Amino acid sequence: DEVLRFIQGMPKAEYHVHLEGTLEAEMKFRLAERNGVHLPYANAAQLRESYKYHDLPSFLAIYYDGMKVLQKEQDFHDLAYAYLAKAASQNVLYAEMFFDPQEHVKLGVAIEDVIGGITRAREDAEAKLGIRSQLILCIVRDLPADTAMAVLDAALPMKQYLVGLGLDSDEKDNPPIKFAAHFAKAKAAGLRTTAHCDANQENTLDHLRQVIVEMELDRVDHGVNVVQSPELMAEARKRNIPFTVCPSFSGQVRGASGPIDAVRAMLDNGLKISINSDDPAYMASEYITDALARTQVRSALSMEELVRIERNAFDTAWLPLSERAGFQ
Ligand code: HPA
Ligand code: ZN
Repeated sequence: DEVLRFIQGMPKAEYHVHLEGTLEAEMKFRLAERNGVHLPYANAAQLRESYKYHDLPSFLAIYYDGMKVLQKEQDFHDLAYAYLAKAASQNVLYAEMFFDPQEHVKLGVAIEDVIGGITRAREDAEAKLGIRSQLILCIVRDLPADTAMAVLDAALPMKQYLVGLGLDSDEKDNPPIKFAAHFAKAKAAGLRTTAHCDANQENTLDHLRQVIVEMELDRVDHGVNVVQSPELMAEARKRNIPFTVCPSFSGQVRGASGPIDAVRAMLDNGLKISINSDDPAYMASEYITDALARTQVRSALSMEELVRIERNAFDTAWLPLSERAGFQ
């Protein structure tokens, strides 16, 4: 329809997508074959059928299992290039992408191959497709904190290929403040900072306060529970904190309505939000256009509001002003 065509045509920016969460079943099969990994499914359709989960831990188990097919520099290149091609086809001009190096290092992959393959894909995609992108190293918060520090230390010599440090995975008993030293080190190295604050956690307002007020990170991933706290919303406005909202993840893991309804409240309270795809390969292959379309219907967004969301999204890019020509 007309709104869908409008959304498809709008220049867009994406800020919350896990590269390993863009590993589509077909590519998982191809890489498994290339690397001699056995998958206990006959074909991609059957594999996709097996992606059944009911909460964050059961989702994460499936997501991490898929990483075993990613072994070589070329695999990381192919994964990132496929995402960037898909995003470019939906008129995404700029993307900041997460990856989880602790998991790959745990599986015996050299961090140079992970960052190297992704970086080569970013360069190829910019040259061939015109899409600009940057990379955010994510701490896997439910692995031991010292393995996060080891990976950060191993990555910092390659920091010219990174724009930020993030925090993902299972939030239960892993509050943001547990990683205060990691974020302080990243800031000192000139990286930007963000952290997942999921809506269905205990202590969610406490975690939001740690991220926004105590640790003064630059951004919040998800974070839709902020609408429960007028004080935290005021802090977020004062500090110009963007929130990266992911309607597909919310829909499947957190019950259909809550977080998408929060979009309306966040906009009405003057918060800056972006709409993002999160882990599209595990979430019905909903990339950014579908995510925006579903949010538009659910929260009755006007075209002006859609445009405001994307303008704000470009505004909050972790790019110097001098490098924003072409999309601003
Ligand atoms: N939340 C937490 N951890 C994750 C996610 C997410 O949406 N995707 C990949 N790791
Ligand atoms: Zn996420």
